[in-house]
Parts: sequence; C-alpha cells; structure tokens
Amino acid sequence: MNIIKTVQQLKAYVQEEKRLGRQIGLVPTMGFLHEGHLSLAKRAREENETVIMSIFVNPLQFGPNEDFEQYPRDLERDAKLAASAGVDCIFAPSVEEMYPEPPMIKMTVTDRTDKLCGEKRPGHFDGVVTVVSKLFHLTEADQAYFGLKDAQQFAVIEGLVKSLNFPVKLVGVETVREEDGLAKSSRNIYLTVEERQKAPHLQRGLQAGVQVAEQGEKDPYRVQEAAREYLLAYSGADLDYVELLSYPELKELERVEGRMILAAAVKYSKARLIDNIIFSVNEGK
Ligand code: PAJ
Repeated sequence: MNIIKTVQQLKAYVQEEKRLGRQIGLVPTMGFLHEGHLSLAKRAREENETVIMSIFVNPLQFGPNEDFEQYPRDLERDAKLAASAGVDCIFAPSVEEMYPEPPMIKMTVTDRTDKLCGEKRPGHFDGVVTVVSKLFHLTEADQAYFGLKDAQQFAVIEGLVKSLNFPVKLVGVETVREEDGLAKSSRNIYLTVEERQKAPHLQRGLQAGVQVAEQGEKDPYRVQEAAREYLLAYSGADLDYVELLSYPELKELERVEGRMILAAAVKYSKARLIDNIIFSVNEGK
C-alpha cells in the first residue's frame, strides 16, 4: 500500500492508474479509523480496481470552539487498518499541502444546512464541500463512498455533485454499530465509562420515535417528542437537537409521510455524538 503525502505524488499516482484504465474508488476520512470507515473501504474494494483513502483532519470544517486540535490522529495505526481492508493508497497531506495559500474562493452551501448539524455548526458544511471538491478533483474518483451515519453530510455532498456536475457516483453506506447499538465513531473514545454505558440510548431513543410513526402517528411533532422524551430520560446527555425532517431535502414536515430522517445530536462531557434513522412509513395506515 502506498502512503502519499503530497499533491504532486498523488497526481502522478492517479495519472498512472487512469492510464492503466482502472476505476478509482475514493474513501474520504479524517482518520483514527474504526470499522465504520473500514466498511466504506471494503465496499470500495469490491466495486473498484483502485481504492484511495484520504486521511485529513480538515481545519475548515471545525468551528473555533470545536475539537480540531484534540481530534485523534494516528497514521501508523490507520495505515495497518486501511491495508487490511484492501486500500491501495492513502493520501495523507498536511494542512499546508492541502491549503498552501490563503483561500481566494469560498464555497457556501445554501440548501440542506439550515437544520441539524448545519444549524448548530455554522460553516461546517462549507468546509466539508471545499475539501471534498478538492479530493474529487485530485483523485479523479469514479465512485466515492460516504457513511449514512452522517446523513446530512451525504445529502449535502449529493447536492454538491449535482450542482457542480462532478463526474463521480456517490455511494451511501449503512452505519456500522457496536454490539449494543452505539454507532462507531472516532469520538466515542472521549466517553467516560458511565457515559459509554448510556450512549446506546441515543439509537434507542430514535427507534422509540420511529416506532410511534410506524404505529400511525401523523403529527411530526409527536414523533420527534417521543424520541426527545426517551433521550431526556435515558441518555444522560444534554440534547443538542432531535428533529424529524424529509430526506434528503431536510425540510420540516407537515405530516409524517414520504422518506424521512429522525436525527439527534447529544452532548456528553467531552463528546458530541450524532445518530439518525432514515425511514418511510406505509401510507394509508
Ligand atoms: P470522518 O468523520 O472521518 O468519516 C469518514 C467517513 O466515514 C464519512 O463518510 C462517515 O459518514 C463515515 N462513517 C463514520 N462513522 C461511520 C459508521 N459508524 N458507519 C459507517 N460509516 C461511518 O466525515 C468525515 O470524516 C469528513 O467530514 C470528510 C467527509 C472526510 C471531509 O473532511
């Protein structure tokens, strides 16, 4: 497996793979890999001749009071895990390599960001689409793999690809979970023992809301509140948001119908965790 740190080397690598007529699959990550990331890599391995994984903690997508400095980093460990999942090449640039000059272009996402994390983390998705656009160009990926745990990110990147006609096919991959249902996340290491025990309630609270919808409740507020009440009672965390919206548009609903997302973010002492369920209910119930 190659580990490439400069744009110049990456371009040479991509040029050679393209010359050989190989399909390129891209798995963008910020590293500190876990089974969630590896499931994207394995899927990319099945569907492409060349798999490039980027590992880059992107400063543009962190707010001033967020955990950019503290974000866990361990390239040596990541390289072993990526190799075991069949990755051909890791692209792990420095911040200076990725952003050598002060930016003269600023990307702004104007839809799908006024709710959920977009509302709570202003500028976050502007930073995500900037780095993802650069990665799409640099890797000339035919297919790119993203997790549905970050469902709003997937919806925004879908909008990016459509709006700017990127010649890449997006693949959304189901959330990988611990046995007790907690979604795998690089930030789970920040949970205290007690918080770790309570954290699976995040998914269970969302399931409680979805269950109410499946039982025929048509008022979106009641579905949302069922999840909120559960989370307040059991998660042991502060609630950042709990929202039921249309998916992937992320608009408020008048009625429980169509494809929807029930999503929540909760704050423990040192970690903010997100999770969601994307679902539809049978009409006519
Ligand atoms: P990061 O948080 O490292 O996640 C990289 C990819 O792994 C994302 O597509 C994310 O949705 C996916 N992922 C994370 N946890 C997962 C899980 N439990 N199951 C399945 N997939 C999971 O998301 C980012 O990095 C960044 O915003 C990035 C897209 C790399 C841009 O900087």
